Amino acid sequence: MSALLEVSDVRKSFGGLQALSGCSFTVERGSVTGLIGPNGSGKTTMFNVITGYEHADSGAVRFDGHDITGMPAGKVGGLGVGRTFQLSRVFGRLTLLENLRVGRRGVPRSRRGELFSDQRCMELLDFVGLTRLAQEPAGSLSYGQRKLVELAMVLAQEPSVILLDEPAGGINPTLIGQMAERIAQLNKQGVTFLLVEHNMEFVMGICDVVAVMERGAVIAVGEPGMVRNDPLVLDAYLGGSLDDEDPVAAAPSAAPGIIGDRS
Ligand SMILES: Nc1ncnc2c1ncn2[C@@H]1O[C@H](COP(=O)(O)OP(=O)(O)OP(=O)(O)O)[C@@H](O)[C@H]1O
Ligand SMILES: [Mg+2]
Repeated sequence: MSALLEVSDVRKSFGGLQALSGCSFTVERGSVTGLIGPNGSGKTTMFNVITGYEHADSGAVRFDGHDITGMPAGKVGGLGVGRTFQLSRVFGRLTLLENLRVGRRGVPRSRRGELFSDQRCMELLDFVGLTRLAQEPAGSLSYGQRKLVELAMVLAQEPSVILLDEPAGGINPTLIGQMAERIAQLNKQGVTFLLVEHNMEFVMGICDVVAVMERGAVIAVGEPGMVRNDPLVLDAYLGGSLDDEDPVAAAPSAAPGIIGDRS
């Protein structure tokens, strides 16, 4: 394997708060890489810096041979970096099919017909198991179903790496299983994943390698089983066990159903 994504010594402060304090790690091509760490350790900020939603104060991000440090989000997306958000961002008043079509705006006109035909959008909805709801408003979906719609929306752009911010957060066990299966299936087809998640069973089951963040930096990297027993990692989780992390702390901070609904 070779590095598809390379993060080197990234720093980012918000006023006096250092959210990223020299963060470095790599995502190997073809891997499912987990990024875990306690609340507030900088995981989402790292995603924002990689995808151009925030700009690093210093450090570098390279993707597939390109220096994407400081590049605007649209351009990073155009190179093949897809992402979902911790708080779901579907358009509640639009149907599922319309939500998928929204992604067209970020794609060159020459490719829109091919990537966003009704047939292709329906195939993607079928892939996430939501065909029968294609004409329903996204606002009528459960929180977990919205996360699957978001995955379909990202897939429409055919990214080579997908960053998922808490794909299993706040969703029921059946849909968590469905999410894990889809990720595994896409990975077999060659899509690389970097995923942030507090659900350790999900992370341990699906990731090839896990990077652990604490206070804005990666403090350990390794196979899931190794990381799980690393004293530094256990310490970062306040001396507790990764198996009994407080489910309240791991859940989204607002009630499912109203989170980030842009309708
Ligand atoms: N736009 C912002 N302005 C000010 N502070 C911010 C901003 N974004 C993040 N922070 C702060 O940076 C730190 C890291 O936040 P971040 O959201 O990256 O953590 P996280 O690891 O994703 O946490 P969680 O697991 O709870 O999602 C936190 O202290 C947070 O309050
Ligand atoms: Mg976060």
